Amino acid sequence: MCRDFVCPDRDCALCPRLKAFIDNNRRLYPDFFNAPVPSFGDLNGELLIVGLAPGLRGANRTGRPFTGDFAGDLLYKSLIDYGFAAGTYQARPDDGLKLINTRLTNAVRCVPPENKPTGGEVKTCSAFLIREINAMPNLKVVLALGGLAHNAVLSVFGAKKSACKFAHNALHSVSFGEREIKLLDTYHTSRYNVNTGKLTPEMFDAVFKTLAALMPRG
Ligand code: URA
Repeated sequence: MCRDFVCPDRDCALCPRLKAFIDNNRRLYPDFFNAPVPSFGDLNGELLIVGLAPGLRGANRTGRPFTGDFAGDLLYKSLIDYGFAAGTYQARPDDGLKLINTRLTNAVRCVPPENKPTGGEVKTCSAFLIREINAMPNLKVVLALGGLAHNAVLSVFGAKKSACKFAHNALHSVSFGEREIKLLDTYHTSRYNVNTGKLTPEMFDAVFKTLAALMPRG
């Protein structure tokens, strides 16, 4: 049972295909976490980072977003370098790493087969993203890792895709009740994007420079 109301229950069955995949992974890999991966960091943070979904042998194994995934290496390094995290990232949930003013989550909380959630699964899981965003009273900036996360965030805010097109390091303003939230995009730090050069460390660094300008440290 997940104690965090913004996280699906450990045996969440809202997406039958994902539930079946997790059940099978529980048989194949009994030592893995194999459940919806809870978000990491404080709900009082001003920054929310939204990824795609846990990787089978990464976050689905360790139970912390991006932890043990290839995609986490560059993300956690940048978070530490720019003061959004403190400690040493050791790809383990008990490495003592702390996020600062930041929360990290996924558009889809359960590991999907071949890293590909369906549109229906993204829509179903957006119920938790809505709760998450509603539960962040100080939220100022959302960083979307990849087009799928960007679209999931836009639908939570009820913003039009045509008005906020996904582009690397693009910054959008979206209204949320009385508040205005900034949505910043980056290509996902996936192995594919990094190995093909679609996302270079310099390009990711440029996104963190934008973030740092939006959220100056005290
Ligand atoms: N990729 C993601 O988008 N999220 C994770 O938690 C791990 C890898």
